[in-house]
Amino acid sequence: MIELMTISSMLCFTYKMITMSPLEDQKEMFLIVLLVLLCSTILITISAFSWRSHGQQKAFRLPQGDMGWPVLGETLPFLKPHPSTSIGDFMQQRISKHGKIFMSNLLGKPTVVSADAELNRFILQADSRLFEPGWSRSIGEVLGKHSILLQVGDAHKKMRSINLNFANNGKLKTPFLRDAYRIAAFVMSSWKNDSVVLGKYEARKLCFHMMAKNILSLEPGTPVTEKLRKEYEAFAKGVVSLPLNLPGTAYSKALKARSYILEVVWQCMEERLCRKKDVEEEDAKDDLLQWTLENSNYSEEQIGDLILGTFFGGYNTTSKAIALAIYFLGGCPKAVEQFEEHDRIVQGKRRGGNSELSCDDYKQMEFTQCVINETLRLGNIVPYIQRKASTHIKFKGYDIPQGCNVMAVLPAVHLDPSFFESPEQFNPWRWQSDHGIRRTNNFMAFGGGARLCPGAVLGRMEMAVFLHHLVINFNWELAEPDLPMAFPSLDFPKGLPIKVRLLSNPQVSM
Ligand code: HEM
Repeated sequence: MIELMTISSMLCFTYKMITMSPLEDQKEMFLIVLLVLLCSTILITISAFSWRSHGQQKAFRLPQGDMGWPVLGETLPFLKPHPSTSIGDFMQQRISKHGKIFMSNLLGKPTVVSADAELNRFILQADSRLFEPGWSRSIGEVLGKHSILLQVGDAHKKMRSINLNFANNGKLKTPFLRDAYRIAAFVMSSWKNDSVVLGKYEARKLCFHMMAKNILSLEPGTPVTEKLRKEYEAFAKGVVSLPLNLPGTAYSKALKARSYILEVVWQCMEERLCRKKDVEEEDAKDDLLQWTLENSNYSEEQIGDLILGTFFGGYNTTSKAIALAIYFLGGCPKAVEQFEEHDRIVQGKRRGGNSELSCDDYKQMEFTQCVINETLRLGNIVPYIQRKASTHIKFKGYDIPQGCNVMAVLPAVHLDPSFFESPEQFNPWRWQSDHGIRRTNNFMAFGGGARLCPGAVLGRMEMAVFLHHLVINFNWELAEPDLPMAFPSLDFPKGLPIKVRLLSNPQVSM
C-alpha cells in the first residue's frame, strides 16, 4: 500500500533534485517530476479503489462510504480543525449519510472508520492476532522503529511490562507523588499575583519535568534540562505533523530533535555504566533508564526508543489534559466550589505538621477524579486510534479485509447522547455514584485491551496534584476566549491565557 509517507518522500526527493540541478536542467527536471507525480497519482487512485472492487468480486460486505479524491481521499475534510468537544463536520456528515461504521480513504489508506461503541471496544480489546498497529511509517521514523507503538506480539509485551513497571510500581508511587507536588509548586512559584499566564505551557512544564525527573533523573531548572525541554517541544510538534522532510518543516526539526535527545539519553547511559563499576549499589538512580539497564537486555537503540516513547506518551497527553481541566473548570465555578476535599487535605496536613501529599491524601480526591474523567470525556485528547486488520474480520455483518486500516473514533462515543446525557455539557457529577466513582465501558480515553495506557494512573495523579495546587493557592479565570481545537493534535490556539490571583491565605508555601 502506497502511503502518505511515500508521497512526501517523493516530493522531498524531487525538491532536492530540482534545487541541486543547474538552471538549464531545471525545466526538464520539472517535467519529469510532473510525470512521476502523475503516475503515482494514478497508482494510488487504483490502490485506493481496489478494496471496493476486490470486495465486489469476493462478495464482501464492506461498509458504505466514499473514497474521495485521488491520493488525498477524504483526508483534508477529516483533518479540518474543529473544537475537540465536538465530533466535527466530517464525522457528523458521514455518520448521517452512511451510519456509525463507514468506509473512507484517510491519510493515504482505505480505512474502516468506527463511531460505533461496540466496534471501538472490539478494536481496542481484540487479541493482537486480529489487529496490529496501524500507524504510518513516518511515525516510526520520528519515534523510532523500536517504539512501543509499533511493536507486536512478545516484543510488545516485553516493552509494555517495562512501562507498566515504571508507572505502576508501588515503590515509585510515593516518589511520583512527592515529585509532582514539588514540581507543581516549582511551576506555580513563578506566577505573579494578578498576572496572566498561559495555561498550556505551564501544564507542559509540570509534565516535562515529571518525565525528565523520573525517566532520566534530570532536575528542573538546570541548563541541560532546559535545553532538553526546548528540543522535546520540537520533537513533540513533529510527531503529529505532515511527514515532509524539507528544511524548516516541523517534521525535519523533529528528526533533528530526536537525534539530540538520543545523544542525551546515550550519554546518561554511558555515565551510568561507567559509574556502576566504581560506586556502591545504593547510589544508583531510581528511574526508568536505570531500571531498564538493570532488568533488560535491550540494545542502546531500543532503550533510546523506549525512553522517547514513554516521554512522548507521558508528556503530550497529560499536559493537554491539565490544560483542558483548567479550561473546563474556568467555565464551571460550581465544580471549583465543590473542591472542599483539597481544603480538608490541607487542614489535615496543618494538624499533622506534614507538608507533603501522602497516598491517603490522594485517595481523598474523589470529586477531583470525577473532574478528571469528565475532562477526558469531553476534551478528547486522543481523537482516534488506528489499527490494521491482520486477518479477515467480520463484525456486525460487515467485512474488514485483511490489511485494511481501521480507525476507532473515540469522541464519537464520548459525545454520544445515548451513552452520556447532554454530552456537550461539562458535568463532573455524572461520574459520582453512591459507592465512589461511576465506571462505564463507554469511557475510552486511555484506550483499552492489550494497549491500554500504562501511564493512566500516573497521568491522573499528575492532573490531580496540579489541580490541588491551583485550587488551594489561586483564583483563576480565562483572560480571553480560547477553545481546545482538535487536529492535527489537540491544542489551544492562544495557549489558554488565564488570569491568576493568589489567595489571601495561600495554603502552602511555594
Ligand atoms: C491523561 C493522560 C493520558 C492519556 C489520555 C493517555 C492516552 C493513551 C491512549 C488512548 C493510549 C492507547 C494508544 C493505542 O491503543 O494505540 C495510550 C498508550 C500509551 N500511553 Fe498513555 N495516556 C496518558 C498518559 C500517559 C502517561 C503519563 C504515560 C507515561 C508513563 C503514558 C504512556 C503511554 C504508552 C507508553 C502507551 C503505549 C502502550 C502500548 O502500546 O502498549 N501515557 N495512552
